[in-house]
Amino acid sequence: MQLQDKVAIITGAGDLEGIGAAIAQRYAKEGAKLVIADIQDGEAVVNTIKAQGGEAIFVKTDVTSQESCSALAKACIENFGRIDILVNNAAMFKNIKGQAFTEVTSEEWNAVMNVNSAGPFNCIKAVSPMMLEQQGGKIINLSSSTIYEGSPFMPHYVASKGAVMALTRSMARSLGGGNITINTLAPGFTQTAAGKEIEARSGLPVAEMLKPMRCLQKTPTPEDLAGPAVFLASDDSNFMTGQLLLCDGGINFN
Ligand SMILES: NC(=O)c1ccc[n+]([C@@H]2O[C@H](COP(=O)([O-])OP(=O)(O)OC[C@H]3O[C@@H](n4cnc5c(N)ncnc54)[C@H](O)[C@@H]3O)[C@@H](O)[C@H]2O)c1
Repeated sequence: MQLQDKVAIITGAGDLEGIGAAIAQRYAKEGAKLVIADIQDGEAVVNTIKAQGGEAIFVKTDVTSQESCSALAKACIENFGRIDILVNNAAMFKNIKGQAFTEVTSEEWNAVMNVNSAGPFNCIKAVSPMMLEQQGGKIINLSSSTIYEGSPFMPHYVASKGAVMALTRSMARSLGGGNITINTLAPGFTQTAAGKEIEARSGLPVAEMLKPMRCLQKTPTPEDLAGPAVFLASDDSNFMTGQLLLCDGGINFN
């Protein structure tokens, strides 16, 4: 088991069909204790992990609020005594309206930036005092392969995920002295509830359209992201920081 007795917070892991929940279940199988943090109810994910013999709690969290993120870190420490891993997975994705850039309002732009870019920053600020005290920690920020493809109908989403990579690089410099690694995991279009909702709203079979463009001609499932997420959280990636791991079946080569 690669994460035996590690304590991991995963934001946006409250949807059983989502990438965060798949990573959480895999971390639990690798021996980690989980804090499921989401603005929506995450008890179903907690119960699933417990039914599989794992340990998990749910903490309702809004990543746009620094107070809420600090309360999340506090709850993690009160329950498990430490914070070893933070996965910044929460995002506005499924509710993004695909539209021409001329139609994107400043309210929509700011809302997406606030969750997708400021959210990870708020969470990093909240967990870093404990990780620095421990002189060790692993942070994984979810970006997207769309930062390479530059999908035209969601410029705010694409920009917010580009900011995640830039934040990773900057924070790697700030936290390296505390033996904290921080890396970006960038999935390609993945078959989650959110992915299916985007397809339904746009009326486009996005997964089928992308399949022939991949070296590996299948549509990824959330579980396809779990292995790379374990690697970035485990000791096997201890000398790797500020990097982006692209997991899109070979559409892009970064
Ligand atoms: N599914 C894909 O095709 C795909 C592709 C590339 C990247 N990603 C990224 O992977 C991650 C997971 O994607 P997913 O498809 O599972 O999406 P998802 O919409 O199922 O998951 C996002 C989660 O974030 C939560 N959330 C939203 N706002 C929040 C807030 N303010 N505070 C706390 N939680 C909040 C939601 O409740 C949801 O559970 C996201 O960061 C997404 O951008 C997804």
